[in-house]
Amino acid sequence: MKREVPEDQSGERHVLDRIYIAGDPHGRFDPLNAAAADRPAAMLMLGDFDLDTALEVAVADARRKCDLWWIHGNHDVDRPAYYRNLFESSLRERCFSARVIEIGGVRFAGLGGVFQARIWHPHNDGGRPRYLTRAEYLAAVPPHERWLGGLPRKARAAIFWEDYEALWQQQADVLVTHEAPACHPYGFAVLDDLAEAMGAHTIIHGHHHVTYTYRYRNRPLTVHGVGLAGVRTAAGRVLTPGLDEERGTFELELQLPQRDDRPAGELLTINDLMPHAAS
Ligand SMILES: [Fe+2]
Repeated sequence: MKREVPEDQSGERHVLDRIYIAGDPHGRFDPLNAAAADRPAAMLMLGDFDLDTALEVAVADARRKCDLWWIHGNHDVDRPAYYRNLFESSLRERCFSARVIEIGGVRFAGLGGVFQARIWHPHNDGGRPRYLTRAEYLAAVPPHERWLGGLPRKARAAIFWEDYEALWQQQADVLVTHEAPACHPYGFAVLDDLAEAMGAHTIIHGHHHVTYTYRYRNRPLTVHGVGLAGVRTAAGRVLTPGLDEERGTFELELQLPQRDDRPAGELLTINDLMPHAAS
């Protein structure tokens, strides 16, 4: 039976609808700051901030209205300033990548970053990670490639096996990722598997700048993609569509059916999900 949240937990659905999800801002923070005027229970941000100022400055309005949490995206390490404005901001403790947080009794697992071929890419080497941990990778990095004496900056946005494995051993209701699961043309089935192992009924992701919902037919799993600077609730309600939905929707509708390993399910695009179309 298809479901978005367990039918016998209507209270959970209410909580999910009061938790807002902000898609990749890429420097555009007005939509998430405006959405926070509703005073949601919390707002979770999906990474790719492109921060020219510290995070707490960019999201100051939202911070006054609600609890904020974030995971990082691949572009948050593009420039030293982007990195410092996020990872060294006063909201650095609000990063929930590689851990599980509880909001209103609902457990959210976070996994920031993207798969990188030199570390772990599920489509390469039979899916085996080249390095399991940051320490193992760092030991293989020559000193001149290190950044500030540690991991190269780009590698700090990689998905490491050690984080994946740590989450695998925990339980959550919702898995929040930057990278997409298998129902997206550029997604990864290992994220579907992680959600299943954790007992999560929902995956929410950014990165591809497209608002959609996918209800799996053969798994009790629903995926919500969040658009560029768009805002949705964790229950999937669209509050603000993304700023560039056309290309992403085109890819979903035309390329997803061509994927051999496409999971069976029902696709709802932004055209189905706009608030005025919802009952
Ligand atoms: Fe991204």
